[in-house]
Amino acid sequence: MNTIDLKDTYLKFFESKGHKIIPSAPIIPENDPTCLFNTAGMQPLVPYLKGEPHPEGTRLADVQKCFRTNDLDSIGDTTHHTFFEMLGNWSLGDYFKKESITWSFELLTKYLNIPVEKLAVTVFKGNEIVPADTESADIWKSLGIKEERIAFLGEENNWWPNMELLGPCGPDTEIFYWRSKEDVPEKFDPDNENWVEIWNNVFMQYNHEEGGKFTPLKNKNVDTGLGVERVTAILEGYTDNYKSSVWKDVIEKIEEISNLSYDDGNNTRSMRIIADHIRAIVMISGDNAGIKPSNTDQGYILRRLIRRMIRYAKKLNIDINTDWEQQLATLIINKYAKYYNELEKNKNDILETLKNEKIKFNRTLEKGLKEFEKVVNNLEGDLINKDIAFRLYDTFGFPIELTEELAGEMNLKVDVEGFKQKFKEHQEKSRAGAEQKFKGGLASTGEMETKYHTATHLLNAALKQVLGDHVHQKGSNITAERMRFDFSHGAKMTDEEKQKAEELVNKYIEQAIPVEKMEMKKEEALNLGAEAMFIEKYGDIVTVYKIGDVSLELCGGPHVKNTKELGQFKIKKEEASSAGVRRIKAILE
Ligand code: ALA
Repeated sequence: MNTIDLKDTYLKFFESKGHKIIPSAPIIPENDPTCLFNTAGMQPLVPYLKGEPHPEGTRLADVQKCFRTNDLDSIGDTTHHTFFEMLGNWSLGDYFKKESITWSFELLTKYLNIPVEKLAVTVFKGNEIVPADTESADIWKSLGIKEERIAFLGEENNWWPNMELLGPCGPDTEIFYWRSKEDVPEKFDPDNENWVEIWNNVFMQYNHEEGGKFTPLKNKNVDTGLGVERVTAILEGYTDNYKSSVWKDVIEKIEEISNLSYDDGNNTRSMRIIADHIRAIVMISGDNAGIKPSNTDQGYILRRLIRRMIRYAKKLNIDINTDWEQQLATLIINKYAKYYNELEKNKNDILETLKNEKIKFNRTLEKGLKEFEKVVNNLEGDLINKDIAFRLYDTFGFPIELTEELAGEMNLKVDVEGFKQKFKEHQEKSRAGAEQKFKGGLASTGEMETKYHTATHLLNAALKQVLGDHVHQKGSNITAERMRFDFSHGAKMTDEEKQKAEELVNKYIEQAIPVEKMEMKKEEALNLGAEAMFIEKYGDIVTVYKIGDVSLELCGGPHVKNTKELGQFKIKKEEASSAGVRRIKAILE
Protein backbone atom coordinates (compact mmCIF):
# COMPACT_ATOMS: atom_id res chain seq x y z
CA MET A 1 0.00 0.00 0.00
CA ASN A 2 1.54 3.31 -1.01
CA THR A 3 1.51 6.51 0.98
CA ILE A 4 -1.51 8.05 -0.79
CA ASP A 5 -3.51 4.88 -0.23
CA LEU A 6 -2.51 4.84 3.41
CA LYS A 7 -3.82 8.36 3.98
CA ASP A 8 -7.01 7.73 2.03
CA THR A 9 -7.65 4.40 3.72
CA TYR A 10 -7.15 5.95 7.13
CA LEU A 11 -9.47 8.88 6.51
CA LYS A 12 -12.15 6.73 4.87
CA PHE A 13 -12.01 4.24 7.70
CA PHE A 14 -12.59 6.88 10.35
CA GLU A 15 -15.23 8.56 8.24
CA SER A 16 -17.07 5.23 8.24
CA LYS A 17 -16.87 5.33 12.04
CA GLY A 18 -18.69 8.65 12.19
CA HIS A 19 -15.70 11.01 12.10
CA LYS A 20 -15.69 14.33 10.30
CA ILE A 21 -12.55 14.77 8.22
CA ILE A 22 -11.13 18.20 9.00
CA PRO A 23 -8.45 19.93 6.94
CA SER A 24 -4.93 20.11 8.29
CA ALA A 25 -4.37 23.25 10.32
CA PRO A 26 -1.66 25.53 8.87
CA ILE A 27 1.89 24.48 9.65
CA ILE A 28 2.42 27.95 11.13
CA PRO A 29 0.18 28.24 14.23
CA GLU A 30 -2.33 31.01 13.75
CA ASN A 31 -2.36 32.62 17.13
CA ASP A 32 0.72 31.84 19.10
CA PRO A 33 3.79 34.02 18.86
CA THR A 34 5.60 31.66 21.24
CA CYS A 35 5.34 28.63 19.01
CA LEU A 36 6.87 28.58 15.55
CA PHE A 37 5.36 25.44 14.05
CA ASN A 38 2.66 22.87 14.57
CA THR A 39 4.39 19.80 15.93
CA ALA A 40 1.49 17.37 16.44
CA GLY A 41 -2.02 16.75 15.18
CA MET A 42 -3.55 17.68 18.52
CA GLN A 43 -1.85 21.05 18.82
CA PRO A 44 -4.45 23.06 16.88
CA LEU A 45 -7.17 21.19 18.79
CA VAL A 46 -6.08 22.14 22.30
CA PRO A 47 -9.04 24.47 22.98
CA TYR A 48 -11.44 21.67 22.04
CA LEU A 49 -9.60 19.09 24.09
CA LYS A 50 -10.05 21.53 26.95
CA GLY A 51 -13.81 21.48 26.47
CA GLU A 52 -14.77 24.10 23.93
CA PRO A 53 -17.28 22.58 21.49
CA HIS A 54 -15.80 21.90 18.05
CA PRO A 55 -18.01 23.10 15.20
CA GLU A 56 -17.58 19.79 13.37
CA GLY A 57 -18.67 17.66 16.30
CA THR A 58 -17.09 15.20 18.69
CA ARG A 59 -15.39 12.78 16.27
CA LEU A 60 -12.65 14.20 14.11
CA ALA A 61 -9.88 12.84 11.90
CA ASP A 62 -7.25 14.45 9.72
CA VAL A 63 -3.82 14.40 8.22
CA GLN A 64 -1.85 17.17 9.87
CA LYS A 65 1.25 18.93 8.56
CA CYS A 66 3.89 18.90 11.27
CA PHE A 67 7.38 20.32 11.51
CA ARG A 68 10.00 19.68 14.16
CA THR A 69 13.28 21.51 14.24
CA ASN A 70 14.81 19.37 16.95
CA ASP A 71 15.56 16.68 14.39
CA LEU A 72 17.38 18.96 11.98
CA ASP A 73 20.82 17.59 12.66
CA SER A 74 19.71 13.98 12.32
CA ILE A 75 18.35 14.55 8.82
CA GLY A 76 20.27 12.34 6.46
CA ASP A 77 19.69 9.07 8.31
CA THR A 78 16.99 6.59 7.31
CA THR A 79 14.15 7.69 9.59
CA HIS A 80 14.28 11.37 10.55
CA HIS A 81 12.42 14.17 8.81
CA THR A 82 11.85 17.84 9.58
CA PHE A 83 8.42 18.00 7.98
CA PHE A 84 6.17 14.99 8.40
CA GLU A 85 2.52 14.10 8.21
CA MET A 86 0.58 12.80 11.16
CA LEU A 87 -2.65 10.89 10.80
CA GLY A 88 -4.91 11.38 13.77
CA ASN A 89 -8.36 10.70 15.07
CA TRP A 90 -10.02 12.37 18.03
CA SER A 91 -12.88 11.81 20.36
CA LEU A 92 -13.92 14.98 22.16
CA GLY A 93 -15.79 13.48 25.10
CA ASP A 94 -17.38 10.90 22.79
CA TYR A 95 -15.96 7.35 22.57
CA PHE A 96 -13.12 6.22 24.79
CA LYS A 97 -10.74 3.30 25.22
CA LYS A 98 -12.83 0.45 23.86
CA GLU A 99 -13.68 1.99 20.48
CA SER A 100 -10.33 3.67 20.10
CA ILE A 101 -8.34 0.49 20.61
CA THR A 102 -10.75 -1.70 18.67
CA TRP A 103 -10.69 0.62 15.66
CA SER A 104 -6.92 0.96 15.65
CA PHE A 105 -6.68 -2.82 15.71
CA GLU A 106 -9.26 -3.21 12.96
CA LEU A 107 -7.58 -0.68 10.69
CA LEU A 108 -4.11 -2.17 11.17
CA THR A 109 -5.04 -5.82 10.77
CA LYS A 110 -7.97 -5.74 8.33
CA TYR A 111 -7.30 -2.72 6.13
CA LEU A 112 -3.52 -2.35 6.29
CA ASN A 113 -3.15 -6.13 6.50
CA ILE A 114 -0.58 -6.15 9.24
CA PRO A 115 -0.45 -9.63 10.80
CA VAL A 116 -1.41 -9.72 14.50
CA GLU A 117 1.76 -11.75 15.13
CA LYS A 118 3.86 -8.68 14.31
CA LEU A 119 2.14 -6.40 16.81
CA ALA A 120 2.80 -5.60 20.45
CA VAL A 121 1.49 -2.87 22.74
CA THR A 122 2.40 -0.89 25.82
CA VAL A 123 -0.09 0.38 28.38
CA PHE A 124 0.32 2.65 31.39
CA LYS A 125 1.43 0.96 34.59
CA GLY A 126 -0.12 3.61 36.85
CA ASN A 127 0.99 6.45 39.10
CA GLU A 128 -0.53 8.51 41.88
CA ILE A 129 -2.95 10.13 39.41
CA VAL A 130 -4.38 7.08 37.67
CA PRO A 131 -4.18 3.33 38.40
CA ALA A 132 -2.64 0.78 36.01
CA ASP A 133 -4.53 0.68 32.73
CA THR A 134 -5.75 -2.91 32.95
CA GLU A 135 -8.84 -1.83 31.05
CA SER A 136 -6.82 -1.15 27.89
CA ALA A 137 -4.80 -4.33 28.42
CA ASP A 138 -8.02 -6.35 28.64
CA ILE A 139 -9.36 -4.79 25.47
CA TRP A 140 -6.13 -5.66 23.64
CA LYS A 141 -6.36 -9.24 24.93
CA SER A 142 -9.97 -9.57 23.83
CA LEU A 143 -8.86 -8.61 20.32
CA GLY A 144 -6.20 -11.30 20.20
CA ILE A 145 -3.03 -9.61 21.44
CA LYS A 146 -1.29 -12.16 23.66
CA GLU A 147 -0.46 -11.31 27.23
CA GLU A 148 3.29 -11.60 26.61
CA ARG A 149 2.97 -8.93 23.91
CA ILE A 150 1.59 -6.38 26.36
CA ALA A 151 4.02 -4.37 28.48
CA PHE A 152 3.00 -2.11 31.36
CA LEU A 153 5.34 0.92 31.38
CA GLY A 154 5.63 4.09 33.44
CA GLU A 155 5.29 7.84 32.97
CA GLU A 156 8.45 8.16 30.90
CA ASN A 157 6.93 5.97 28.17
CA ASN A 158 3.17 5.99 28.47
CA TRP A 159 2.16 9.48 29.49
CA TRP A 160 1.75 12.00 26.68
CA PRO A 161 3.28 14.47 26.09
CA ASN A 162 5.20 14.01 29.37
CA MET A 163 4.90 14.99 33.02
CA GLU A 164 6.51 18.43 32.52
CA LEU A 165 4.62 20.22 29.77
CA LEU A 166 1.48 22.10 30.67
CA GLY A 167 -1.89 21.53 29.03
CA PRO A 168 -4.04 18.52 28.13
CA CYS A 169 -2.36 15.18 28.75
CA GLY A 170 -2.96 11.65 29.85
CA PRO A 171 -1.89 8.03 29.82
CA ASP A 172 -1.55 6.32 26.47
CA THR A 173 -1.32 2.96 24.83
CA GLU A 174 1.27 2.60 22.09
CA ILE A 175 1.27 0.10 19.27
CA PHE A 176 4.52 -1.45 18.05
CA TYR A 177 5.42 -3.34 14.90
CA TRP A 178 8.21 -5.92 14.45
CA ARG A 179 10.36 -4.39 11.74
CA SER A 180 12.99 -7.01 11.07
CA LYS A 181 13.67 -10.02 8.90
CA GLU A 182 14.42 -12.01 12.05
CA ASP A 183 11.67 -14.16 13.54
CA VAL A 184 9.27 -12.34 15.81
CA PRO A 185 10.03 -13.19 19.43
CA GLU A 186 7.11 -14.54 21.48
CA LYS A 187 7.68 -12.05 24.24
CA PHE A 188 7.63 -8.30 23.66
CA ASP A 189 10.78 -6.54 24.83
CA PRO A 190 10.21 -2.77 24.49
CA ASP A 191 14.00 -2.24 24.57
CA ASN A 192 14.53 -4.28 21.43
CA GLU A 193 14.85 -1.70 18.65
CA ASN A 194 13.28 -3.96 16.06
CA TRP A 195 9.99 -3.11 17.72
CA VAL A 196 9.07 0.29 16.31
CA GLU A 197 6.22 2.43 17.52
CA ILE A 198 3.59 3.03 14.85
CA TRP A 199 0.58 4.49 16.63
CA ASN A 200 -0.05 6.29 19.85
CA ASN A 201 -3.50 6.43 21.42
CA VAL A 202 -3.63 9.00 24.20
CA PHE A 203 -6.48 9.01 26.68
CA MET A 204 -6.51 12.71 27.35
CA GLN A 205 -8.28 13.28 30.61
CA TYR A 206 -6.16 15.79 32.51
CA ASN A 207 -5.01 19.35 32.27
CA HIS A 208 -1.54 19.82 33.67
CA GLU A 209 -1.62 23.16 35.41
CA GLU A 210 1.09 25.36 36.78
CA GLY A 211 2.28 24.11 40.16
CA GLY A 212 2.10 20.42 39.33
CA LYS A 213 -1.67 20.06 39.51
CA PHE A 214 -3.39 17.58 37.20
CA THR A 215 -7.06 18.53 37.09
CA PRO A 216 -9.58 16.39 35.22
CA LEU A 217 -10.62 17.88 31.90
CA LYS A 218 -14.27 18.53 31.24
CA ASN A 219 -14.27 15.57 28.84
CA LYS A 220 -12.54 12.26 28.53
CA ASN A 221 -10.89 12.60 25.13
CA VAL A 222 -8.96 10.39 22.77
CA ASP A 223 -6.03 11.79 20.77
CA THR A 224 -4.13 9.52 18.43
CA GLY A 225 -1.16 9.98 16.13
CA LEU A 226 0.31 7.78 13.43
CA GLY A 227 3.32 8.87 11.41
CA VAL A 228 2.74 8.57 7.67
CA GLU A 229 6.41 8.26 6.70
CA ARG A 230 7.21 5.46 9.09
CA VAL A 231 4.07 3.44 8.48
CA THR A 232 4.35 3.77 4.70
CA ALA A 233 7.89 2.39 4.84
CA ILE A 234 6.70 -0.49 7.02
CA LEU A 235 3.80 -1.35 4.74
CA GLU A 236 6.12 -1.32 1.75
CA GLY A 237 8.76 -3.37 3.52
CA TYR A 238 11.59 -0.82 3.69
CA THR A 239 13.85 0.04 6.58
CA ASP A 240 15.00 3.18 4.75
CA ASN A 241 12.05 5.61 4.67
CA TYR A 242 13.51 7.29 1.58
CA LYS A 243 12.98 4.10 -0.44
CA SER A 244 9.24 4.21 0.18
CA SER A 245 6.61 5.84 -2.01
CA VAL A 246 6.73 8.96 0.18
CA TRP A 247 10.12 9.77 -1.29
CA LYS A 248 10.73 7.51 -4.27
CA ASP A 249 9.78 10.03 -6.97
CA VAL A 250 11.66 12.83 -5.18
CA ILE A 251 14.84 10.76 -4.93
CA GLU A 252 14.50 9.71 -8.57
CA LYS A 253 14.21 13.34 -9.60
CA ILE A 254 17.37 14.19 -7.64
CA GLU A 255 19.13 11.25 -9.30
CA GLU A 256 18.03 12.54 -12.69
CA ILE A 257 19.10 16.12 -11.98
CA SER A 258 22.48 15.12 -10.56
CA ASN A 259 23.04 12.15 -12.81
CA LEU A 260 24.13 10.19 -9.77
CA SER A 261 22.78 7.15 -7.95
CA TYR A 262 21.14 7.18 -4.53
CA ASP A 263 22.54 3.72 -3.81
CA ASP A 264 26.10 4.99 -4.17
CA GLY A 265 27.00 5.60 -0.54
CA ASN A 266 28.79 8.84 -1.45
CA ASN A 267 25.51 10.43 -2.45
CA THR A 268 22.89 8.90 -0.18
CA ARG A 269 23.05 11.36 2.70
CA SER A 270 23.12 14.45 0.48
CA MET A 271 20.11 13.21 -1.47
CA ARG A 272 18.14 12.53 1.69
CA ILE A 273 18.86 16.01 3.00
CA ILE A 274 17.80 17.63 -0.27
CA ALA A 275 14.62 15.51 -0.40
CA ASP A 276 13.68 16.26 3.20
CA HIS A 277 14.45 19.95 2.96
CA ILE A 278 12.70 20.69 -0.32
CA ARG A 279 9.47 19.22 1.05
CA ALA A 280 9.73 21.27 4.25
CA ILE A 281 10.61 24.40 2.24
CA VAL A 282 7.51 23.97 0.08
CA MET A 283 5.27 23.44 3.09
CA ILE A 284 6.59 26.42 5.05
CA SER A 285 6.76 28.89 2.19
CA GLY A 286 3.43 27.57 0.87
CA ASP A 287 1.60 28.31 4.10
CA ASN A 288 -0.89 31.14 3.93
CA ALA A 289 1.09 32.94 6.63
CA GLY A 290 3.39 34.11 3.82
CA ILE A 291 6.71 33.26 5.47
CA LYS A 292 9.78 34.54 3.63
CA PRO A 293 13.43 33.79 4.35
CA SER A 294 14.69 36.14 7.05
CA ASN A 295 16.89 36.23 10.11
CA THR A 296 14.21 35.55 12.69
CA ASP A 297 11.68 32.89 13.65
CA GLN A 298 10.13 30.77 10.90
CA GLY A 299 11.87 32.88 8.28
CA TYR A 300 15.22 31.88 9.72
CA ILE A 301 14.34 28.20 9.66
CA LEU A 302 13.22 28.57 6.06
CA ARG A 303 16.47 30.33 5.18
CA ARG A 304 18.52 27.63 6.87
CA LEU A 305 16.66 24.87 5.03
CA ILE A 306 17.13 26.51 1.65
CA ARG A 307 20.80 27.29 2.20
CA ARG A 308 21.55 23.86 3.58
CA MET A 309 19.79 22.21 0.67
CA ILE A 310 21.80 24.27 -1.80
CA ARG A 311 25.04 23.29 -0.15
CA TYR A 312 24.20 19.61 -0.48
CA ALA A 313 23.14 20.11 -4.08
CA LYS A 314 26.62 21.55 -4.67
CA LYS A 315 28.12 18.48 -3.09
CA LEU A 316 26.35 16.43 -5.73
CA ASN A 317 27.79 18.75 -8.37
CA ILE A 318 24.36 19.95 -9.39
CA ASP A 319 24.65 23.13 -11.42
CA ILE A 320 23.00 25.52 -8.99
CA ASN A 321 22.18 28.03 -11.71
CA THR A 322 19.79 25.69 -13.49
CA ASP A 323 16.16 25.41 -12.42
CA TRP A 324 16.76 22.19 -10.42
CA GLU A 325 15.09 23.57 -7.29
CA GLN A 326 12.04 24.68 -9.26
CA GLN A 327 11.65 21.18 -10.67
CA LEU A 328 11.85 19.62 -7.24
CA ALA A 329 9.47 22.12 -5.67
CA THR A 330 6.95 21.63 -8.47
CA LEU A 331 7.05 17.89 -7.96
CA ILE A 332 6.29 18.32 -4.24
CA ILE A 333 3.52 20.84 -4.86
CA ASN A 334 1.79 18.52 -7.33
CA LYS A 335 2.14 15.59 -5.02
CA TYR A 336 0.62 17.25 -1.96
CA ALA A 337 -1.87 19.72 -3.44
CA LYS A 338 -4.67 17.19 -3.03
CA TYR A 339 -4.37 17.39 0.75
CA TYR A 340 -3.14 20.95 1.18
CA ASN A 341 -4.82 23.10 -1.42
CA GLU A 342 -2.99 26.27 -0.40
CA LEU A 343 0.07 24.85 -2.17
CA GLU A 344 -1.52 25.23 -5.58
CA LYS A 345 -2.76 28.70 -4.70
CA ASN A 346 0.64 29.83 -3.42
CA LYS A 347 2.66 28.03 -6.05
CA ASN A 348 4.14 31.15 -7.64
CA ASP A 349 5.13 32.49 -4.25
CA ILE A 350 6.85 29.26 -3.33
CA LEU A 351 8.82 29.09 -6.55
CA GLU A 352 9.70 32.76 -6.46
CA THR A 353 10.84 32.64 -2.82
CA LEU A 354 13.05 29.68 -3.53
CA LYS A 355 14.60 31.25 -6.58
CA ASN A 356 15.27 34.59 -4.93
CA GLU A 357 16.86 33.05 -1.89
CA LYS A 358 18.96 30.81 -4.11
CA ILE A 359 20.24 33.76 -6.10
CA LYS A 360 20.98 35.68 -2.93
CA PHE A 361 22.85 32.84 -1.29
CA ASN A 362 24.58 31.70 -4.41
CA ARG A 363 26.13 35.12 -4.89
CA THR A 364 28.11 34.77 -1.71
CA LEU A 365 28.35 31.03 -1.18
CA GLU A 366 31.36 30.45 -3.41
CA LYS A 367 33.19 33.35 -1.85
CA GLY A 368 32.16 32.20 1.58
CA LEU A 369 33.43 28.68 1.01
CA LYS A 370 36.74 30.10 -0.21
CA GLU A 371 36.87 32.35 2.83
CA PHE A 372 36.16 29.36 5.02
CA GLU A 373 39.01 27.45 3.42
CA LYS A 374 41.33 30.38 4.03
CA VAL A 375 40.21 30.56 7.63
CA VAL A 376 40.94 26.89 8.11
CA ASN A 377 44.37 27.16 6.54
CA ASN A 378 45.34 30.01 8.82
CA LEU A 379 43.79 28.56 11.93
CA GLU A 380 45.95 27.95 14.95
CA GLY A 381 44.39 25.26 17.09
CA ASP A 382 40.99 23.80 16.33
CA LEU A 383 38.60 26.62 17.25
CA ILE A 384 36.82 28.97 14.89
CA ASN A 385 36.33 32.02 17.07
CA LYS A 386 33.24 34.19 17.35
CA ASP A 387 34.61 36.96 15.16
CA ILE A 388 35.27 34.64 12.24
CA ALA A 389 31.89 32.95 12.68
CA PHE A 390 30.18 36.32 12.74
CA ARG A 391 32.01 37.53 9.63
CA LEU A 392 30.92 34.39 7.78
CA TYR A 393 27.36 35.16 8.83
CA ASP A 394 27.39 38.88 8.24
CA THR A 395 29.37 39.04 5.03
CA PHE A 396 28.71 35.67 3.44
CA GLY A 397 25.26 34.81 4.78
CA PHE A 398 26.41 31.62 6.47
CA PRO A 399 23.90 30.54 9.11
CA ILE A 400 25.91 29.58 12.19
CA GLU A 401 24.72 25.99 11.73
CA LEU A 402 26.38 25.89 8.32
CA THR A 403 29.66 27.07 9.79
CA GLU A 404 29.31 24.44 12.48
CA GLU A 405 28.60 21.76 9.95
CA LEU A 406 31.55 22.69 7.73
CA ALA A 407 33.77 22.83 10.79
CA GLY A 408 32.49 19.47 12.00
CA GLU A 409 33.49 17.88 8.71
CA MET A 410 37.08 18.97 9.42
CA ASN A 411 37.04 18.12 13.11
CA LEU A 412 37.07 21.76 14.12
CA LYS A 413 35.01 23.51 16.77
CA VAL A 414 33.10 26.77 16.63
CA ASP A 415 32.56 29.23 19.47
CA VAL A 416 28.80 29.16 19.04
CA GLU A 417 28.04 30.81 22.38
CA GLY A 418 30.38 33.68 21.57
CA PHE A 419 28.77 34.00 18.16
CA LYS A 420 25.30 34.18 19.70
CA GLN A 421 26.42 36.88 22.08
CA LYS A 422 27.87 38.91 19.24
CA PHE A 423 24.78 38.32 17.15
CA LYS A 424 22.59 39.65 19.95
CA GLU A 425 24.70 42.75 20.45
CA HIS A 426 24.52 43.40 16.73
CA GLN A 427 20.73 43.00 16.72
CA GLU A 428 20.34 45.35 19.65
CA LYS A 429 22.45 47.94 17.89
CA SER A 430 20.41 47.83 14.71
CA ARG A 431 17.18 47.87 16.68
CA ALA A 432 18.34 50.95 18.56
CA GLY A 433 19.15 52.49 15.21
CA ALA A 434 15.68 51.73 13.88
CA GLU A 435 14.03 53.19 16.95
CA GLN A 436 16.10 56.30 16.57
CA LYS A 437 14.91 56.69 13.03
CA PHE A 438 11.38 56.04 14.12
CA LYS A 439 11.55 58.87 16.62
CA GLY A 440 12.97 61.17 14.01
CA GLY A 441 9.94 60.55 11.86
CA LEU A 442 11.99 59.04 9.06
CA ALA A 443 10.42 55.62 9.36
CA SER A 444 6.96 56.48 10.50
CA THR A 445 5.34 53.80 8.37
CA GLY A 446 5.14 51.50 11.36
CA GLU A 447 3.06 53.85 13.44
CA MET A 448 -0.39 52.89 12.22
CA GLU A 449 0.44 49.20 12.27
CA THR A 450 1.54 49.56 15.86
CA LYS A 451 -1.79 51.18 16.77
CA TYR A 452 -3.70 48.43 15.03
CA HIS A 453 -1.66 45.86 16.84
CA THR A 454 -2.76 47.28 20.18
CA ALA A 455 -6.33 47.50 18.89
CA THR A 456 -6.36 43.71 18.30
CA HIS A 457 -5.67 43.17 22.01
CA LEU A 458 -8.50 45.51 22.97
CA LEU A 459 -10.89 43.90 20.52
CA ASN A 460 -9.97 40.43 21.76
CA ALA A 461 -10.77 41.53 25.31
CA ALA A 462 -14.01 43.27 24.27
CA LEU A 463 -15.24 40.21 22.35
CA LYS A 464 -14.60 38.03 25.38
CA GLN A 465 -16.73 40.43 27.40
CA VAL A 466 -19.55 40.54 24.89
CA LEU A 467 -19.58 36.97 23.56
CA GLY A 468 -17.95 34.89 26.28
CA ASP A 469 -14.74 33.19 27.30
CA HIS A 470 -14.75 30.84 24.33
CA VAL A 471 -13.43 33.69 22.21
CA HIS A 472 -9.78 33.25 21.28
CA GLN A 473 -7.77 34.98 18.65
CA LYS A 474 -7.32 32.73 15.63
CA GLY A 475 -5.28 35.06 13.53
CA SER A 476 -4.82 38.66 12.52
CA ASN A 477 -3.64 40.69 9.61
CA ILE A 478 -2.64 44.28 9.82
CA THR A 479 -1.82 46.97 7.29
CA ALA A 480 -1.46 50.71 7.76
CA GLU A 481 -5.06 51.09 6.58
CA ARG A 482 -7.00 48.49 8.54
CA MET A 483 -6.96 45.43 10.76
CA ARG A 484 -8.45 42.03 10.35
CA PHE A 485 -9.09 39.88 13.38
CA ASP A 486 -10.15 36.23 13.36
CA PHE A 487 -11.61 34.65 16.46
CA SER A 488 -13.43 31.54 17.58
CA HIS A 489 -17.14 31.98 17.76
CA GLY A 490 -19.85 29.74 16.35
CA ALA A 491 -22.43 32.26 15.14
CA LYS A 492 -22.83 35.47 13.24
CA MET A 493 -22.65 38.45 15.57
CA THR A 494 -25.82 40.45 15.97
CA ASP A 495 -25.80 44.17 15.30
CA GLU A 496 -26.17 44.74 18.99
CA GLU A 497 -23.16 42.59 19.81
CA LYS A 498 -21.07 44.38 17.22
CA GLN A 499 -22.08 47.73 18.62
CA LYS A 500 -21.29 46.64 22.15
CA ALA A 501 -17.85 45.38 21.18
CA GLU A 502 -17.09 48.57 19.31
CA GLU A 503 -18.24 50.71 22.23
CA LEU A 504 -16.14 48.72 24.67
CA VAL A 505 -12.99 49.17 22.61
CA ASN A 506 -13.67 52.89 22.39
CA LYS A 507 -14.24 52.98 26.13
CA TYR A 508 -10.83 51.37 26.71
CA ILE A 509 -9.31 53.97 24.41
CA GLU A 510 -10.97 56.86 26.23
CA GLN A 511 -9.82 55.51 29.57
CA ALA A 512 -6.24 56.24 28.44
CA ILE A 513 -4.86 53.02 29.86
CA PRO A 514 -1.07 52.62 29.83
CA VAL A 515 0.23 49.64 27.84
CA GLU A 516 2.93 47.90 29.82
CA LYS A 517 5.50 45.60 28.34
CA MET A 518 6.85 43.02 30.73
CA GLU A 519 9.30 40.20 30.47
CA MET A 520 8.76 37.39 32.86
CA LYS A 521 9.15 33.71 33.43
CA LYS A 522 6.51 31.79 31.57
CA GLU A 523 5.18 30.28 34.81
CA GLU A 524 4.63 33.75 36.14
CA ALA A 525 2.77 34.81 32.99
CA LEU A 526 0.53 31.78 33.23
CA ASN A 527 -0.08 32.39 36.91
CA LEU A 528 -1.16 35.91 36.10
CA GLY A 529 -3.77 34.43 33.78
CA ALA A 530 -2.18 35.22 30.43
CA GLU A 531 -3.79 32.87 27.99
CA ALA A 532 -1.64 30.04 26.67
CA MET A 533 -3.36 28.25 23.87
CA PHE A 534 -0.73 25.73 22.95
CA ILE A 535 0.88 23.02 24.90
CA GLU A 536 4.16 23.47 23.05
CA LYS A 537 7.03 24.46 25.27
CA TYR A 538 7.46 28.20 25.62
CA GLY A 539 10.81 29.81 25.97
CA ASP A 540 11.63 30.34 29.62
CA ILE A 541 11.22 34.08 29.36
CA VAL A 542 8.19 35.47 27.58
CA THR A 543 7.08 38.96 26.65
CA VAL A 544 3.70 39.94 27.99
CA TYR A 545 1.68 43.05 27.21
CA LYS A 546 -0.63 44.26 29.95
CA ILE A 547 -3.33 46.82 29.29
CA GLY A 548 -4.66 47.72 32.75
CA ASP A 549 -7.18 45.14 33.87
CA VAL A 550 -8.46 44.80 30.34
CA SER A 551 -5.95 42.55 28.66
CA LEU A 552 -2.95 40.38 29.33
CA GLU A 553 -1.43 38.63 26.35
CA LEU A 554 1.75 36.85 25.44
CA CYS A 555 2.93 38.86 22.48
CA GLY A 556 6.05 40.08 20.74
CA GLY A 557 4.72 43.62 20.19
CA PRO A 558 5.16 46.39 19.15
CA HIS A 559 2.45 48.40 20.89
CA VAL A 560 1.57 52.00 21.63
CA LYS A 561 2.40 53.37 25.08
CA ASN A 562 -1.15 54.32 25.96
CA THR A 563 -4.54 53.34 24.52
CA LYS A 564 -5.46 57.01 24.05
CA GLU A 565 -3.14 57.08 21.05
CA LEU A 566 -5.51 54.92 19.03
CA GLY A 567 -8.25 57.39 18.11
CA GLN A 568 -11.71 56.17 17.18
CA PHE A 569 -12.28 52.44 16.61
CA LYS A 570 -14.83 51.29 14.07
CA ILE A 571 -15.99 47.80 13.04
CA LYS A 572 -16.53 47.77 9.29
CA LYS A 573 -17.52 44.17 8.76
CA GLU A 574 -18.15 40.88 10.53
CA GLU A 575 -18.19 37.69 8.52
CA ALA A 576 -17.41 33.96 8.53
CA SER A 577 -13.74 33.08 8.10
CA SER A 578 -13.83 29.28 8.39
CA ALA A 579 -15.80 26.73 10.37
CA GLY A 580 -16.30 28.13 13.87
CA VAL A 581 -14.15 31.16 13.16
CA ARG A 582 -15.46 34.68 12.55
CA ARG A 583 -13.60 37.62 11.08
CA ILE A 584 -13.87 41.28 11.93
CA LYS A 585 -12.52 44.04 9.74
CA ALA A 586 -12.02 47.28 11.57
CA ILE A 587 -10.34 50.65 11.22
CA LEU A 588 -8.99 53.39 13.44
CA GLU A 589 -9.94 56.94 12.58
N1 ALA B 1 -0.49 13.55 20.39
C1 ALA B 1 0.04 12.24 20.28
C2 ALA B 1 1.37 12.21 19.58
O1 ALA B 1 1.74 13.18 18.99
C3 ALA B 1 -0.93 11.34 19.61
O2 ALA B 1 2.03 11.20 19.63
